[in-house]
This record gives sequence, structure tokens and C-alpha cells, in this order.
Amino acid sequence: MTAQQKKINAAQLVIKKIKPGMSIGLGTGSTANEFIHILGKDKNLSQSLKCTSSSNQTIEIAKNYSIECLELDQFDYLDITIDGADEIDKNGDMIKGGGGALLREKMLANISKEYFIIIDDSKSVKTLGNFPLPIEIIPFSPKSTISQLDKVFKKYQMISQIEIRVDATGSNFITDGGNFIVDCYCKKILNSKELNPEIENIPSVITTGLFLNMSSSVIIGYDQYATEFNFDR
Ligand code: A5P
Repeated sequence: MTAQQKKINAAQLVIKKIKPGMSIGLGTGSTANEFIHILGKDKNLSQSLKCTSSSNQTIEIAKNYSIECLELDQFDYLDITIDGADEIDKNGDMIKGGGGALLREKMLANISKEYFIIIDDSKSVKTLGNFPLPIEIIPFSPKSTISQLDKVFKKYQMISQIEIRVDATGSNFITDGGNFIVDCYCKKILNSKELNPEIENIPSVITTGLFLNMSSSVIIGYDQYATEFNFDR
């Protein structure tokens, strides 16, 4: 059984949460895309929704199904956002941003009444940090930001290699918001609740890929089925 089938199984479970007329946030990545494929085939449902998206990439995928993504400014809140994750622990805390859409993903999550995360079982981990932590930073003087990040990691006895993300051509990766991303190879993040605000306190840091205490439900796709875990937020 492929990882794709596991993602489809998770997406098929989460689609049951979507009711006609809802306002929906569409996440980014291969798992969120499986959700859009399933949603898009149900024209009655998809055309009744008001959707917004976490990335330009997702806007294009949604367009294939004539799903229009409205500006986030059009919404005071979203009923549900559906997104993937790069790593998630048993508390529902996550690393996101592997696809570079972390900022807009966090903005959607922040105004969502319910935030459903769909993953295949490989994303479920005991401790966050094996996946490099993405941090979105302003493009001005990135070396200075990196040296401040380094100090914060050292304070927490973490040895983290920090690399500016590059695209396929070797140029610095630019996010939809026009920023850079640094990937931090932490191996283990044991104190995310203390670490995260300190990182976000650095003036040139826009946001981190740590999504803490945000997910309301996590749906894990396995070979033949998917299971849902709910969190009281
Ligand atoms: C996008 O920036 C990420 O946060 C994605 O949600 C995450 O990388 C999951 O992507 P996949 O579903 O492709 O693994």
C-alpha cells in the first residue's frame, strides 16, 4: 500500500466533516491536495462552500475543480481548515512548513473554529525535531538572523545546523509572502513551548513551523483505514 493511499484514506474521513455552506481553509501539500481532489469531485458540496487557501499552489489546484479561493480578508473566521503536517506528536503539536507555506497556514489555523490535520502514519512521532524546523524570516541580512537563532538554540543546549532554504535552481527559496526560510536541523525539540516564543521574539523572524496547541483533530491514514484523535482546545 502506498503513502498516497494512506493520505487518501485520511482525506476520505475528513470530508465527512464538511457541510454545505461552510467556510473552509484549504491547506498546502500532497495530503491537503488529496482532500481537494475528493472535495472537487463533489460539485454540489464544493460549490456551496466559501474557501480560502494557504498558498498560491493550492489556489491553482483548487482552480482545476472550479473551486474559487477568496482572499482571507473576506473572512472573520473559518468553520474548518484542513491541512497536512510534517511531524506531529501525541499532543497534536506539529512541525509544518516543509512546503514553505507555514505563515499563511498559521494565519488560517488562527481564525479556524476547527483545525483538522490529515496525515499518513509516517508523520506521527514521539518527539518533534527529526524533520528540520522551518522558520520564515525577512530577506534582509539573513546571516544576522541566523546568528541570533543560533544563540537561542544554544541557550536550550540544542545543537542546530541552520540552513537557508534554496530552490531547484540553487537560489534562495522565496515564500508566497516574499520571505526566506531557514531550516533548522534540531534532531530533538524537547522544550518547544519555551523555545518557540523566544525564537518568535527575534525581530526578523516572522513565524516558526512549530504549531503548538492548535490542532483540534488529527486524522491518521493507514493502509486500509483512518483514525481520528480529538483534542480539547
Ligand atoms: C506546507 O508548507 C506544509 O506545512 C505541509 O502542510 C506539510 O509539509 C505536509 O505536506 P505533505 O502532506 O506533502 O507531507
